[in-house]
Amino acid sequence: MKVILLGPQGAGKGTQAQRLSARTGAKHISTGDIVRTEIKSGSDLGQKVQEYNDRGDLVPDEVIVEMAKPHLDDADSWLLDGFPRNEAQAKALDDALNDLGIEIDKAIALEAPDDDLVTRLSGRRTSDATGKVYHVEHDPPPEGSDEDPGPFVQRKDDTEESIRNRLKIYHEQTEPLKDYYDERGLLLTVDATRSIDEVTEEILDALGETGGRA
Ligand code: AP5
Repeated sequence: MKVILLGPQGAGKGTQAQRLSARTGAKHISTGDIVRTEIKSGSDLGQKVQEYNDRGDLVPDEVIVEMAKPHLDDADSWLLDGFPRNEAQAKALDDALNDLGIEIDKAIALEAPDDDLVTRLSGRRTSDATGKVYHVEHDPPPEGSDEDPGPFVQRKDDTEESIRNRLKIYHEQTEPLKDYYDERGLLLTVDATRSIDEVTEEILDALGETGGRA
């Protein structure tokens, strides 16, 4: 299974990718996580991408494409979260996959209105220990759990200013990719305003997965 997850910030791409990965065994490839890991490492590349990340701007295409590529032939089955985000990246992805002889099975677009997304992102908490995504109200972090001891932190780019900038870029550059994949018969749109579990089940059904590994 080779699946692209599209959707605005806060629609639940990371949340769903983590759940689908646990249920199907597919590898979760998040370019946002790749960027944050690089920043945490303090490398020159990390310092270069940090300013884009913190402002909520896209990292330049040539940089993010080179960061994403090594992960694509690393697993038989993957869920690509946060990449591609514009037509240039989509074409670079097509070229890279052609070279590897890999075909995309589906592009899943999670859809929700902007105002809901700002509220969701303000309540997002991420486990420092495991990277798992929670929400203070909709999916609260566990208390005193050995499996995920936390701490549960807010992302630096989850300020209202950065969120609004990310959503503006999404509508201008990323949303048109829905047509790009629809024209190839690969697009599935999913109403992401429903509960996290309902969204997961709809995607598993559409992919024909039983989710038996849960
Ligand atoms: P990235 O990490 O991808 O951040 P983002 O684009 O801002 O997307 P989010 O992580 O905010 O959205 P999500 O849909 O994953 O939301 P989540 O599941 O957490 O990228 C970060 C930065 O890296 C970018 O700004 C850029 O600088 C750089 N970058 C990355 N990829 C790049 C690329 N291709 N090109 C250039 N630069 C790139 O959910 C949010 C919250 O909502 C959570 O709290 C969750 O619990 C809650 N929630 C989820 N679903 C539901 C639901 N159904 N009901 C209620 N609450 C829900």
